[in-house]
Amino acid sequence: MSIIATDKTYIAGTYGRFPVELVRGEGSVLYSADNKRYIDMGTGIAVNTFGISDPVWTDAVTAQLTRLQHTSNLYYTEPCALLAKELCERSGMKKVFFGNSGAEANECAIKVARKWGEENKGEDYYTVITLRNSFHGRTITTLSATGQDHYHRHFGPMTPGFVYAETENLDEVRSLAKNHKCCAIMFECVQGEGGVIPLSAEFVHGLKAIAEEYDLLLIVDEVQTGNGRCGQFYCYMNYGIKPDVVSTAKGLGGGLPIGAVLLGEKVENTLRPGDHGSTFGGNPVCAAGALNVIRRLDDTTLRGVRERSDYIKEKLIGKSGIKSISGMGLMIGIETVKPAREIVAACLERGVLCLTAKDKVRLLPALNIPMDILDEALNVIIDVCAE
Ligand SMILES: Cc1ncc(COP(=O)(O)O)c(C=O)c1O
Repeated sequence: MSIIATDKTYIAGTYGRFPVELVRGEGSVLYSADNKRYIDMGTGIAVNTFGISDPVWTDAVTAQLTRLQHTSNLYYTEPCALLAKELCERSGMKKVFFGNSGAEANECAIKVARKWGEENKGEDYYTVITLRNSFHGRTITTLSATGQDHYHRHFGPMTPGFVYAETENLDEVRSLAKNHKCCAIMFECVQGEGGVIPLSAEFVHGLKAIAEEYDLLLIVDEVQTGNGRCGQFYCYMNYGIKPDVVSTAKGLGGGLPIGAVLLGEKVENTLRPGDHGSTFGGNPVCAAGALNVIRRLDDTTLRGVRERSDYIKEKLIGKSGIKSISGMGLMIGIETVKPAREIVAACLERGVLCLTAKDKVRLLPALNIPMDILDEALNVIIDVCAE
């Protein structure tokens, strides 16, 4: 049986995979089993921060792998401690909890918010305000936090304690804060799965003001936007705000599963022994990969992200079949005349791997994608979008 047939037979049918078996890659180029070359404009959905098999990252991971692959959280390890230190120093946050994925990071953020609410405001102050077009994960509670009804279908009852406001509607957020016993507001600065929609600076500052007025924690979900993706270390830095809690994952590990919750002053001591845990959380191999990624997110890399972003936007805007471009840094949404799914399928045929986000084509290339390869991919996208 071919690998595709074996996969279809034995893997639960949750994914609509493209008919391609990927076997290897280098940087921003991937190869399939039949040796076709593909340019990677998706990086495994914002995960492979510095591309495939980046030699510096691979060396850091391999060195740790051959020394010690896992210990449990009963013992100390260097990569985990140094990664937490680096994340705190770069963000100004105080403490870190490590998990394995974005959904788990958000679960932890919600637990922190509920406990903080109980201890500081009262037992029934557990409600979290989220946005209608948001996406926060696939566990029952992070699905409940996700403000899109179609994700809730079939999986009820949802976890209680979430209320939703329309994106950009500060009056609705204020009214929810006033009429419910809330502990936090949670949002993505750029709604990724919701269609690559950046929140306006006015709205984000408004959320911060409401959080202050009603004594709520500000939780920023940086699972997709974080770790350099949006041209700053974390995307909230583009807005000049300081959240109380930041959740992240995806690009943090550069290709290995690791998530983190960064805790600010208000909540640095909210989690106490026994409150939370994870067998694999902060695993030394994943942490070594993440430490390598984080240390390389310097000014030059971040400037490179912003320059590539400007280049992509300038090159695509106004081209035939392209209605608009949204996004920040190397998280780009393209509104096309033809359906996004058709564009992505046609790009695949022509050797370019893109993604969709709702009705948009979504690009999430490696932060260091070489300009000539980027140009090659953009030329294909322009060709395929043209009417
Ligand atoms: C903003 C955001 N939060 C949470 C998640 C869930 O992350 P994971 O799939 O690692 O659980 C995602 C995944 O797309 C995301 O984009």
